[in-house]
Amino acid sequence: MPIKSNDAQDNGYHGVKTVVVPAAGMGTRFLPATKTVPKELLPVVDTPGIELIAEEAATLGATRLAIITAPKKQEVMRHFDEFPELVRTLRARGKEEQAVKVERAGKLIKPVSVPQEEPLGLGHAIGLAEDTLDDDEQFFAVMLPDDIVMPATVMGEMERVRRAVGGSVLCAFEVSREQTADYGVFDVEDTNAPGVKKVKGMVEKPDPADAPSNLVATGRYILDRKVFSALRRIKPGKGGEIQLTDAIELLIREGEPVHVVVHRGTRHDLGNPGGYIPACVDFGLRNEQYGPALYKDLKDIIARYEAEL
Ligand code: UTP
Repeated sequence: MPIKSNDAQDNGYHGVKTVVVPAAGMGTRFLPATKTVPKELLPVVDTPGIELIAEEAATLGATRLAIITAPKKQEVMRHFDEFPELVRTLRARGKEEQAVKVERAGKLIKPVSVPQEEPLGLGHAIGLAEDTLDDDEQFFAVMLPDDIVMPATVMGEMERVRRAVGGSVLCAFEVSREQTADYGVFDVEDTNAPGVKKVKGMVEKPDPADAPSNLVATGRYILDRKVFSALRRIKPGKGGEIQLTDAIELLIREGEPVHVVVHRGTRHDLGNPGGYIPACVDFGLRNEQYGPALYKDLKDIIARYEAEL
């Protein structure tokens, strides 16, 4: 299928205004830490995942962050508050750099809280954001705060594809065939645009032998507003939860265009310790202040570890 611009149809086109950030999950893979600390607030070096997402959303040009929050996870919203007393104290003590860090999150983007009373699934969480969108927002973005994609420019590419072909645009990441068993896997066909594929279907965590490709879903989406109607029409799926994948499947069956942009950079899954630790190492090594010492420490740790093998 040719990818050509239909800007004419999108008269008055503007980019993504709202980024929906589902942050009401239980974070069970991160217990016991998540008994009291929402996983979205766990720091990568010194910055919580939710602030990294706010930064990515602001870079995309979005103006509103619709954060889906659970009743017991209000600290996620609090992260965007002003802390005037703390800032005053830091400045009085000459800690300007720290004061700027405290103020940063609140200045990036406008956060809006969307309550989800019970964790009924990612699809359910996204469905709750409908009323937050303006009437003229025909599409919006979803960014999962436990998924970090670098470089973050992939969302901009996805937005350009949406502008050209409409519908919904997802982000795909290439994994080895054996790893497909852990992900939602896309069934795709080529388009004439390099790195852009048309989605024919999706399979959740297949047996690698049956995987339709080695392109898997990551936590970045540009969704057409029609997804809300699809979310209302699907039944609870895996684990009794309303699954976003099922709504996307329904859109595909109804002939709505769904494409993926194949992300060629790095991806980190902050949602479990196995992905979180490498993310901290990757960000830590690139950190001006901590990187050089961490590099040395890591080499020592690895040498000691290998000596014990
Ligand atoms: P995950 O399944 O990765 O998060 O959902 P989880 O449910 O918190 O994790 P585990 O499996 O118990 O460890 C992806 C994203 O969707 C949000 C989560 O907060 C996470 O950011 N989510 C999930 C909701 O907002 N509501 C839900 O009902 C489910």
